[in-house]
Amino acid sequence: METLREEVGLAKDKRSKASPEPHAVLAAAAKGKLPKWAVCGKRRRAHMKRVSDLMGEWAEQLGLDAHEVVRWRAAGLLHDALREAPPRKLRPLVPERRRALPPKAYHGPAAATLLAREGVEDEELLHAIRWHTLGSWKFGRLGRALYAADFLEPGRRSRRRWREGLRDRVSRNLDRVLREIVADKIDYLLRAEMAVSRRTVRFWNSLVDDP
Ligand SMILES: [Fe+2]
Repeated sequence: METLREEVGLAKDKRSKASPEPHAVLAAAAKGKLPKWAVCGKRRRAHMKRVSDLMGEWAEQLGLDAHEVVRWRAAGLLHDALREAPPRKLRPLVPERRRALPPKAYHGPAAATLLAREGVEDEELLHAIRWHTLGSWKFGRLGRALYAADFLEPGRRSRRRWREGLRDRVSRNLDRVLREIVADKIDYLLRAEMAVSRRTVRFWNSLVDDP
């Protein structure tokens, strides 16, 4: 399997010519500043900051350029910007074709809608935020890292050692770590006799089908 570092090398080549300035909302978020429409209390904000810091750490470990580090940090902070808004308020911000989603997953698409309205055109980042709850078979490197960082940030109290071990392995083999995370989530849902979203199943399949 291609390692994350090799992928990074390829991605760097592709974007070596034009690296546009990050949008002001993303530049601010990379520094820990949330947009004014964010709805989150102190504890949630601390979680978002930890995810952002972890994303920044990983981006730097991977040797990504400063522009990429801003994107990774911004995605980490912004992913839960609307997590505490009531689903009935988020519903109008979720595109109609996606309203069959579980209401707990509305905050990702709703935040992506508001970021796009502010002029953020970074589709990989918007996609990462939109689907960080359920996963996506179309995730790029940023989306996969965000999904993992949300689960592995050091403030999560349960099974600390296990999470720590997974965090240590991310820069060597992100996809292997992701498989363990998604398997754990699906296993939990199956045991609780709860539905598994088709998006999560497709995300899983994309991780195991990858040669
Ligand atoms: Fe989160």
